[in-house]
Amino acid sequence: MKKITIAIDGHSSTGKSTAAKELAKALNYIYVDTGAMYRAMTYFALKNGFFENDVLNETRLIQSLDDVDLSFEYDQSKEKSIILLNGENVENFIRQMDVANKVSYVAKIPEVRHKLVKIQQKIGEKGGLVMDGRDIGSVVFPEAELKIFMTATANERAKRRFNELKGSSSDLNFDEVLANVQERDLIDSSRETSPLIQTDDAVKLDNTNLTKEEQADVLLKLAMKQIRLR
Ligand code: DC
Repeated sequence: MKKITIAIDGHSSTGKSTAAKELAKALNYIYVDTGAMYRAMTYFALKNGFFENDVLNETRLIQSLDDVDLSFEYDQSKEKSIILLNGENVENFIRQMDVANKVSYVAKIPEVRHKLVKIQQKIGEKGGLVMDGRDIGSVVFPEAELKIFMTATANERAKRRFNELKGSSSDLNFDEVLANVQERDLIDSSRETSPLIQTDDAVKLDNTNLTKEEQADVLLKLAMKQIRLR
């Protein structure tokens, strides 16, 4: 059976990663979390002091891009891919609020996107993968055989993110999480380079009222239909 390319784009905190990971597992495909790459780049900028009084010095980041090596490694024990920044496992750092609050400023820089898109296209050149992000169906793999656009209400997404984060952060505030979700929607959708858009050929999936199981079922059916067509 032909191995296809599946692009899952959509708003932040819609559960794209979980859905994409499960779909990849069911199909025995590779899963690639491109948000992790933008987050790792943001962590790199924070760690090197490129945010000065909370404002990103874009020039310094752009000048340092050649010093950044991003790769994925499969962790057998956890059954998941982890992201490596210059060989260091940064999974635990990139999910924190300091990175979440800054990542949109890094993700809107064309030079950063250019570098990451090239890596993503190289990883996916042979097909047989599920990649999730914001511009996968529009820029990274415009020829993807299946494109999904995932969304849910901002309130529902903030609730999910809040529940996910509250274990690791004691001073977490729901309104702050909601504001972050809304701010990221706005920046992601209105940036000049590769804004988040639903392409005409993408299937829209609003999962506000769907269970994970129902959603997984819908996705697998859509994927199998495309695979049989090839
Ligand atoms: O999917 P996520 O929440 O981990 O993504 C983190 C940020 O990275 C998000 O604010 C948008 C950005 N991003 C992007 O611009 N393009 C992608 N392909 C993936 C993520």
